[in-house]
Amino acid sequence: MASTPDTPRHVAIIMDGNGRWATSKGWPRLVGHRKGAERVKEIVRAAPDQGIEWLTIYAFSTENWKRSTEEVLGLMGLFARYIQREAEGLSAEGVRMRFIGNRKRLDPKLQDLMAWIEERTSANTRLNLTVAINYGGRDELVRAARALARKVADGALDPEAVDEAALDRALDTADIPDPDLVIRTSGETRVSNFLLWQAAYAEFEFTPVLWPDFTPEVLAEILSRYGNRERRFGGVVS
Ligand code: IPE
Ligand code: IPE
Ligand code: MG
Repeated sequence: MASTPDTPRHVAIIMDGNGRWATSKGWPRLVGHRKGAERVKEIVRAAPDQGIEWLTIYAFSTENWKRSTEEVLGLMGLFARYIQREAEGLSAEGVRMRFIGNRKRLDPKLQDLMAWIEERTSANTRLNLTVAINYGGRDELVRAARALARKVADGALDPEAVDEAALDRALDTADIPDPDLVIRTSGETRVSNFLLWQAAYAEFEFTPVLWPDFTPEVLAEILSRYGNRERRFGGVVS
């Protein structure tokens, strides 16, 4: 069982290190985020050629509101600009864009842009790009539990019918397969509330490279190691 294909179908990336990258050069943290957004464009363009069908990127966590107003607003502005500027290119490249995370706390204008690009790219099939904004695995699980509880209270769902599949369907990622590989940049080796449920059997790769230095070549190098792994899913390999 569990032979590992050469390339992971779904790669999820915790894009970390923008702030340190900028600070080390004596620049404001936002410069690092801007460079990071440029890297996203390159990686999105390169991913399908590296065999990736699903790419999920962590852009803003439910804990990132703790940062300065300047940084938070700067990031939100960057997300809006990315959507506006990349809409054309993403469509031309066959990218379908989705978002996961709790949208309610986001600026209504950004929410509208997110819904607009999801709709606009919904027929594309070359790459499924999912961006996690105001995303936290715990928050997602709480919202899913609440949605199921509401159905039970309404008499529309039997508590005994709440199983793994039902919970899975109540998550933001209902339409998205589980990640095969989670990559975190910048040398930190923690999950920071990313895809807690979905990454149950994902492989993990940690690289010291800071996100603004992360190139398609670095990605290719990481993917080349993936083929040597043996995924067992709790079983025994004969
Ligand atoms: C990742 O870079 C981007 C976000 C979390 C928005 P950081 O901003 O966390 O960069 P470091 O970790 O401070 O270097
Ligand atoms: C994780 O990075 C969140 C994103 C990449 C969006 P953080 O920089 O926020 O994580 P911690 O604080 O180092 O755990
Ligand atoms: Mg960080």
